[in-house]
Amino acid sequence: MSYSIFNRTDVVAEGWYWLLAAKELKRGQVRAVNILGHELAVFRGKDGKVAALDAYCPHMGAHLAEGRVEGNQLRCFFHNWRFDAAGQCTDIPCLANKLQKRVQTRAWVLEERNGLIWIWLGSEAPVCTAPEAPELAGADYEYSLGNRFIKHCHPNVVMVNAIDEQHFHTVHRLPGSILSMQPQPRDARNIEFHNTGTVPRERFIGRCIARFYKHALTYNLSYWFGSAGTVTLGPDFLHLYLMFALRLTPDGRTEGRTVVFTRRRKGLFGWLFNRVVLSLTKIAGYYFAVGDTRIFQTIRFNLKTPIAADRAVLAFIHHLEQQTPYALNQAVPAGARKAA
Ligand code: FES
Ligand SMILES: [Fe+2]
Repeated sequence: MSYSIFNRTDVVAEGWYWLLAAKELKRGQVRAVNILGHELAVFRGKDGKVAALDAYCPHMGAHLAEGRVEGNQLRCFFHNWRFDAAGQCTDIPCLANKLQKRVQTRAWVLEERNGLIWIWLGSEAPVCTAPEAPELAGADYEYSLGNRFIKHCHPNVVMVNAIDEQHFHTVHRLPGSILSMQPQPRDARNIEFHNTGTVPRERFIGRCIARFYKHALTYNLSYWFGSAGTVTLGPDFLHLYLMFALRLTPDGRTEGRTVVFTRRRKGLFGWLFNRVVLSLTKIAGYYFAVGDTRIFQTIRFNLKTPIAADRAVLAFIHHLEQQTPYALNQAVPAGARKAA
Protein backbone atom coordinates (compact mmCIF):
# COMPACT_ATOMS: atom_id res chain seq x y z
CA MET A 1 0.00 0.00 0.00
CA SER A 2 1.45 3.41 -0.87
CA TYR A 3 0.52 6.60 0.90
CA SER A 4 0.99 10.30 0.25
CA ILE A 5 2.18 11.12 3.81
CA PHE A 6 1.93 8.10 6.14
CA ASN A 7 5.21 6.24 6.76
CA ARG A 8 7.13 8.19 4.12
CA THR A 9 10.64 9.52 4.48
CA ASP A 10 10.41 12.35 1.91
CA VAL A 11 7.18 14.02 3.12
CA VAL A 12 5.73 14.80 6.55
CA ALA A 13 2.46 16.39 7.62
CA GLU A 14 2.68 20.17 7.99
CA GLY A 15 2.92 20.93 11.69
CA TRP A 16 5.06 21.48 14.78
CA TYR A 17 8.06 19.23 15.37
CA TRP A 18 10.28 19.19 18.45
CA LEU A 19 13.82 20.48 17.99
CA LEU A 20 15.50 20.62 21.39
CA ALA A 21 14.73 20.51 25.08
CA ALA A 22 14.45 24.16 26.16
CA LYS A 23 16.94 23.61 28.99
CA GLU A 24 19.56 22.42 26.49
CA LEU A 25 19.81 25.94 25.07
CA LYS A 26 20.78 28.60 27.61
CA ARG A 27 20.92 32.34 26.92
CA GLY A 28 23.85 33.15 24.66
CA GLN A 29 24.20 29.56 23.39
CA VAL A 30 23.98 28.30 19.81
CA ARG A 31 23.52 24.66 18.80
CA ALA A 32 23.52 22.69 15.57
CA VAL A 33 20.30 20.72 15.10
CA ASN A 34 19.38 18.50 12.19
CA ILE A 35 15.66 18.38 11.52
CA LEU A 36 14.55 15.89 8.89
CA GLY A 37 17.94 16.04 7.23
CA HIS A 38 18.07 19.84 7.18
CA GLU A 39 20.81 21.50 9.18
CA LEU A 40 19.96 24.47 11.42
CA ALA A 41 21.74 26.80 13.83
CA VAL A 42 19.44 27.34 16.82
CA PHE A 43 20.34 30.04 19.32
CA ARG A 44 18.96 31.81 22.36
CA GLY A 45 19.47 35.55 22.56
CA LYS A 46 20.17 37.68 25.60
CA ASP A 47 16.42 38.40 25.76
CA GLY A 48 15.76 34.65 26.25
CA LYS A 49 14.05 34.23 22.89
CA VAL A 50 15.00 31.31 20.66
CA ALA A 51 15.69 31.61 16.92
CA ALA A 52 16.68 29.18 14.17
CA LEU A 53 18.51 29.99 10.95
CA ASP A 54 19.55 27.77 8.08
CA ALA A 55 22.90 26.48 9.26
CA TYR A 56 25.16 27.35 6.35
CA CYS A 57 26.24 30.97 6.19
CA PRO A 58 25.08 32.72 2.99
CA HIS A 59 28.58 34.15 2.57
CA MET A 60 30.75 31.06 2.14
CA GLY A 61 28.86 28.25 3.84
CA ALA A 62 30.42 28.06 7.28
CA HIS A 63 28.16 26.41 9.86
CA LEU A 64 26.64 29.23 11.88
CA ALA A 65 26.57 27.06 15.01
CA GLU A 66 30.37 27.49 15.05
CA GLY A 67 29.72 31.18 15.63
CA ARG A 68 28.72 33.13 18.71
CA VAL A 69 25.61 34.86 20.02
CA GLU A 70 25.92 38.62 20.36
CA GLY A 71 22.96 40.18 22.12
CA ASN A 72 20.02 38.72 20.22
CA GLN A 73 21.99 38.04 17.04
CA LEU A 74 24.35 35.40 15.72
CA ARG A 75 27.84 36.14 14.35
CA CYS A 76 29.48 33.73 11.93
CA PHE A 77 32.85 32.41 13.12
CA PHE A 78 34.48 32.50 9.69
CA HIS A 79 34.39 36.15 8.48
CA ASN A 80 32.26 37.52 11.31
CA TRP A 81 29.13 38.44 9.37
CA ARG A 82 26.24 38.92 11.79
CA PHE A 83 22.56 37.88 11.43
CA ASP A 84 19.50 38.78 13.45
CA ALA A 85 16.74 36.36 14.53
CA ALA A 86 14.83 37.06 11.30
CA GLY A 87 17.85 35.99 9.21
CA GLN A 88 18.76 39.53 8.10
CA CYS A 89 22.48 40.23 7.84
CA THR A 90 23.22 43.25 10.06
CA ASP A 91 26.99 43.55 9.85
CA ILE A 92 29.80 42.75 7.44
CA PRO A 93 32.91 43.94 9.30
CA CYS A 94 35.16 44.53 6.28
CA LEU A 95 32.56 46.59 4.42
CA ALA A 96 31.74 50.17 5.24
CA ASN A 97 28.74 50.33 2.88
CA LYS A 98 25.26 48.91 3.49
CA LEU A 99 25.65 45.78 1.40
CA GLN A 100 24.62 43.64 4.38
CA LYS A 101 21.02 44.78 3.89
CA ARG A 102 20.90 42.69 0.73
CA VAL A 103 22.00 39.53 2.51
CA GLN A 104 19.34 37.37 4.08
CA THR A 105 19.25 33.80 5.24
CA ARG A 106 16.20 31.74 6.12
CA ALA A 107 14.77 32.05 9.63
CA TRP A 108 12.33 29.42 10.92
CA VAL A 109 9.27 29.85 13.13
CA LEU A 110 9.80 28.44 16.62
CA GLU A 111 7.64 28.08 19.70
CA GLU A 112 8.85 27.25 23.17
CA ARG A 113 6.20 25.30 25.00
CA ASN A 114 6.13 22.77 27.82
CA GLY A 115 9.89 22.37 28.07
CA LEU A 116 10.49 21.82 24.36
CA ILE A 117 11.49 24.09 21.48
CA TRP A 118 9.22 23.31 18.50
CA ILE A 119 9.73 24.26 14.86
CA TRP A 120 6.89 24.88 12.42
CA LEU A 121 7.34 22.97 9.16
CA GLY A 122 4.89 24.41 6.68
CA SER A 123 4.76 26.57 3.62
CA GLU A 124 2.61 29.21 5.34
CA ALA A 125 2.61 30.73 8.83
CA PRO A 126 1.55 28.38 11.68
CA VAL A 127 -2.16 27.64 11.73
CA CYS A 128 -2.24 26.22 15.27
CA THR A 129 -0.19 26.14 18.45
CA ALA A 130 2.22 23.37 19.44
CA PRO A 131 0.58 20.24 20.97
CA GLU A 132 -0.75 20.20 24.54
CA ALA A 133 -2.67 17.92 26.90
CA PRO A 134 -6.34 18.58 25.99
CA GLU A 135 -7.68 18.31 29.56
CA LEU A 136 -5.11 20.89 30.70
CA ALA A 137 -5.81 23.52 28.03
CA GLY A 138 -6.11 26.84 29.85
CA ALA A 139 -5.42 25.20 33.26
CA ASP A 140 -2.57 25.95 35.65
CA TYR A 141 -0.24 22.98 35.40
CA GLU A 142 3.32 21.79 35.93
CA TYR A 143 5.42 19.77 33.53
CA SER A 144 8.66 17.86 33.58
CA LEU A 145 10.77 16.59 30.71
CA GLY A 146 11.09 12.82 30.46
CA ASN A 147 13.50 10.69 28.50
CA ARG A 148 14.86 11.00 24.98
CA PHE A 149 14.67 7.83 22.92
CA ILE A 150 15.39 6.35 19.50
CA LYS A 151 13.13 3.84 17.74
CA HIS A 152 14.19 1.88 14.69
CA CYS A 153 11.06 2.66 12.68
CA HIS A 154 9.11 5.61 11.32
CA PRO A 155 7.42 7.99 13.84
CA ASN A 156 3.99 7.26 12.30
CA VAL A 157 4.51 3.57 13.08
CA VAL A 158 5.40 4.39 16.69
CA MET A 159 2.16 6.41 16.93
CA VAL A 160 0.18 3.47 15.58
CA ASN A 161 1.43 1.26 18.38
CA ALA A 162 -0.36 3.18 21.14
CA ILE A 163 -3.74 2.74 19.41
CA ASP A 164 -3.18 -0.84 18.24
CA GLU A 165 -5.86 -2.54 20.31
CA GLN A 166 -4.90 -6.13 19.45
CA HIS A 167 -1.26 -5.88 20.51
CA PHE A 168 -2.24 -4.78 24.03
CA HIS A 169 -3.73 -8.23 24.47
CA THR A 170 -1.00 -10.23 22.71
CA VAL A 171 2.17 -8.31 23.61
CA HIS A 172 1.17 -6.56 26.84
CA ARG A 173 -1.17 -9.31 28.11
CA LEU A 174 -4.15 -7.07 28.93
CA PRO A 175 -7.48 -8.87 29.32
CA GLY A 176 -9.83 -9.10 26.35
CA SER A 177 -12.51 -6.45 26.86
CA ILE A 178 -10.39 -3.78 28.51
CA LEU A 179 -9.59 -1.74 25.38
CA SER A 180 -11.83 -0.62 22.56
CA MET A 181 -10.39 2.47 20.88
CA GLN A 182 -12.86 4.84 19.23
CA PRO A 183 -11.46 7.46 16.83
CA GLN A 184 -12.83 11.01 17.05
CA PRO A 185 -11.29 13.53 14.63
CA ARG A 186 -11.20 16.98 16.27
CA ASP A 187 -9.99 19.07 13.35
CA ALA A 188 -7.80 18.76 10.27
CA ARG A 189 -4.64 18.25 12.35
CA ASN A 190 -5.85 16.66 15.55
CA ILE A 191 -7.54 13.31 16.10
CA GLU A 192 -8.48 11.74 19.44
CA PHE A 193 -8.90 8.10 20.40
CA HIS A 194 -11.04 7.24 23.41
CA ASN A 195 -11.17 3.88 25.08
CA THR A 196 -14.69 2.62 25.70
CA GLY A 197 -13.63 -0.73 27.18
CA THR A 198 -14.14 -1.48 30.87
CA VAL A 199 -12.17 -3.42 33.45
CA PRO A 200 -13.40 -7.05 33.59
CA ARG A 201 -15.00 -7.83 36.97
CA GLU A 202 -14.74 -11.60 36.98
CA ARG A 203 -11.71 -11.61 39.25
CA PHE A 204 -11.20 -9.92 42.61
CA ILE A 205 -8.37 -7.70 41.31
CA GLY A 206 -10.59 -6.55 38.44
CA ARG A 207 -13.40 -5.63 40.85
CA CYS A 208 -10.92 -3.61 42.96
CA ILE A 209 -9.55 -1.69 39.95
CA ALA A 210 -13.03 -1.14 38.48
CA ARG A 211 -14.02 0.87 41.59
CA PHE A 212 -11.75 3.67 40.37
CA TYR A 213 -13.51 4.01 37.02
CA LYS A 214 -17.10 5.15 36.78
CA HIS A 215 -17.31 4.23 33.11
CA ALA A 216 -14.54 3.09 30.76
CA LEU A 217 -10.93 2.56 31.76
CA THR A 218 -9.30 5.89 31.00
CA TYR A 219 -6.88 5.54 28.11
CA ASN A 220 -7.35 8.47 25.75
CA LEU A 221 -5.00 9.82 23.14
CA SER A 222 -4.79 13.04 21.21
CA TYR A 223 -2.63 12.98 18.07
CA TRP A 224 -1.26 15.87 16.00
CA PHE A 225 0.50 15.76 12.60
CA GLY A 226 1.07 12.00 12.95
CA SER A 227 4.07 12.62 15.15
CA ALA A 228 3.09 14.12 18.51
CA GLY A 229 0.57 12.74 20.93
CA THR A 230 -0.73 13.07 24.46
CA VAL A 231 -1.89 10.08 26.49
CA THR A 232 -4.38 10.54 29.34
CA LEU A 233 -4.63 7.63 31.71
CA GLY A 234 -5.24 6.77 35.36
CA PRO A 235 -8.20 6.50 37.71
CA ASP A 236 -11.04 9.03 37.65
CA PHE A 237 -9.65 10.90 40.68
CA LEU A 238 -6.15 11.31 39.23
CA HIS A 239 -5.44 11.57 35.55
CA LEU A 240 -1.85 11.26 34.36
CA TYR A 241 -0.79 13.16 31.24
CA LEU A 242 2.08 12.06 29.08
CA MET A 243 3.19 13.65 25.82
CA PHE A 244 5.45 12.00 23.32
CA ALA A 245 6.95 14.22 20.63
CA LEU A 246 8.53 12.37 17.71
CA ARG A 247 10.47 13.30 14.64
CA LEU A 248 11.98 11.48 11.71
CA THR A 249 15.77 11.12 11.61
CA PRO A 250 17.66 11.43 8.30
CA ASP A 251 18.08 7.62 8.29
CA GLY A 252 14.35 6.95 8.67
CA ARG A 253 14.21 6.26 12.40
CA THR A 254 12.37 8.02 15.23
CA GLU A 255 13.89 10.42 17.73
CA GLY A 256 11.52 11.20 20.55
CA ARG A 257 11.10 13.06 23.82
CA THR A 258 8.50 12.62 26.50
CA VAL A 259 6.99 15.35 28.67
CA VAL A 260 4.75 14.65 31.67
CA PHE A 261 2.14 17.00 33.13
CA THR A 262 -0.02 17.43 36.19
CA ARG A 263 -2.35 20.13 37.52
CA ARG A 264 -0.60 22.58 39.85
CA ARG A 265 -1.45 21.88 43.50
CA LYS A 266 -1.09 24.35 46.34
CA GLY A 267 1.28 24.29 49.30
CA LEU A 268 4.21 22.11 50.23
CA PHE A 269 2.10 18.98 50.27
CA GLY A 270 0.78 19.82 46.80
CA TRP A 271 4.32 20.35 45.57
CA LEU A 272 5.49 17.02 47.02
CA PHE A 273 2.39 15.24 45.73
CA ASN A 274 3.11 16.59 42.26
CA ARG A 275 6.69 15.31 42.36
CA VAL A 276 5.31 11.82 43.01
CA VAL A 277 2.67 12.16 40.27
CA LEU A 278 5.19 13.41 37.72
CA SER A 279 7.58 10.56 38.61
CA LEU A 280 4.79 7.98 38.31
CA THR A 281 3.87 9.40 34.91
CA LYS A 282 7.50 9.16 33.81
CA ILE A 283 7.47 5.49 34.77
CA ALA A 284 4.36 5.08 32.61
CA GLY A 285 6.19 6.99 29.86
CA TYR A 286 9.15 4.66 30.19
CA TYR A 287 6.78 1.76 29.66
CA PHE A 288 5.55 3.40 26.43
CA ALA A 289 9.09 4.24 25.35
CA VAL A 290 10.66 0.82 25.88
CA GLY A 291 7.62 -1.34 25.12
CA ASP A 292 7.54 -3.06 21.77
CA THR A 293 11.24 -2.41 21.12
CA ARG A 294 11.53 -5.88 19.62
CA ILE A 295 8.80 -5.08 17.09
CA PHE A 296 10.25 -1.70 16.19
CA GLN A 297 13.67 -3.22 15.43
CA THR A 298 12.45 -5.25 12.48
CA ILE A 299 8.95 -4.16 11.37
CA ARG A 300 8.26 -3.21 7.75
CA PHE A 301 4.85 -1.69 8.30
CA ASN A 302 2.32 -2.81 5.72
CA LEU A 303 -1.30 -3.15 6.81
CA LYS A 304 -2.28 -5.52 4.02
CA THR A 305 -5.01 -7.35 5.90
CA PRO A 306 -6.96 -4.95 8.12
CA ILE A 307 -9.67 -6.31 10.40
CA ALA A 308 -12.31 -4.61 12.56
CA ALA A 309 -9.92 -4.38 15.52
CA ASP A 310 -7.60 -2.22 13.37
CA ARG A 311 -10.20 0.55 12.98
CA ALA A 312 -8.28 3.05 15.13
CA VAL A 313 -5.10 2.42 13.13
CA LEU A 314 -7.00 2.88 9.86
CA ALA A 315 -8.65 6.07 11.16
CA PHE A 316 -5.24 7.46 12.12
CA ILE A 317 -3.76 6.72 8.69
CA HIS A 318 -6.81 8.17 6.95
CA HIS A 319 -6.71 11.35 9.06
CA LEU A 320 -2.97 11.81 8.46
CA GLU A 321 -3.41 11.31 4.72
CA GLN A 322 -5.87 14.27 4.63
CA GLN A 323 -3.33 16.66 6.16
CA THR A 324 -1.20 19.16 4.24
CA PRO A 325 2.03 17.53 3.08
CA TYR A 326 5.34 19.24 3.67
CA ALA A 327 8.04 17.96 1.32
CA LEU A 328 11.38 17.67 3.02
CA ASN A 329 13.19 19.04 -0.02
CA GLN A 330 11.26 22.29 0.50
CA ALA A 331 14.06 23.05 2.92
CA VAL A 332 16.27 24.88 0.41
CA PRO A 333 19.92 25.40 1.45
CA ALA A 334 20.61 28.94 2.60
CA GLY A 335 23.33 29.42 0.00
CA ALA A 336 20.77 29.04 -2.78
CA ARG A 337 18.76 32.00 -1.50
CA LYS A 338 19.19 35.70 -1.83
CA ALA A 339 22.83 36.44 -1.13
CA ALA A 340 25.38 39.17 -1.83
S1 FES B 1 31.25 32.13 5.85
FE1 FES B 1 30.14 33.21 7.32
S2 FES B 1 30.96 35.19 7.27
FE2 FES B 1 32.03 34.13 5.73
FE1 LIG C 1 2.86 -1.44 22.94
